[in-house]
Amino acid sequence: MSDHRNVPELMDENDVVDLLVRQHVMIRDLFDEVEDAPAGNRRAEAFQRLVRMLAVHETAEEEVVHPYARLKIEGGDEVVDERLAEEREAKQMLSDLERLGTDHPDFSGHLQVLRAAVLAHAHAEERHEFPRFRTQTSEAERRALAAGVKAAEALAPTHPHPGTESAVRNLLLGTPLALVDRTRDVIRQAMGGRGD
Ligand SMILES: [Fe+2]
Ligand SMILES: [Fe+2]
Repeated sequence: MSDHRNVPELMDENDVVDLLVRQHVMIRDLFDEVEDAPAGNRRAEAFQRLVRMLAVHETAEEEVVHPYARLKIEGGDEVVDERLAEEREAKQMLSDLERLGTDHPDFSGHLQVLRAAVLAHAHAEERHEFPRFRTQTSEAERRALAAGVKAAEALAPTHPHPGTESAVRNLLLGTPLALVDRTRDVIRQAMGGRGD
């Protein structure tokens, strides 16, 4: 398992698939951080970073990549419907876990279940969706789609610079579903409103 400190900062990555695969690594590392954090504030903060990253990542996929995959890749409807079902399930688990709270005695057990589901889902994307996406879309298409994912990613800094954390936290206060709504707005602006 790689350490997050070895994940290069590649904010200038231009291929949407590369961006999403890198986020899968970050998500796995954030699960590690939550599991390793002592109970209390440290764990709550680590979990909040994970919630944010998952909301941002899955929303970006739902808004940007899956709809395009449905149109462009062979067998797109089937592949995307399966991924969306997995994402819905994970989103529900995430909401339940958020309500439970990081200090609840059942938190760790539920976190393990969520982790297994999320990582299996990411693996399915990397195996069944992304390879076809790479070969059946153009570089220019993937570059254009990356804009939406990058705009969303700015909402979920995994290791924010001192001084910016509280601003981001204020922006993204609320439930995971509220984060999804906010992220969706940001992506739609980035994808549709070049220049506004
Ligand atoms: Fe996904
Ligand atoms: Fe993903």
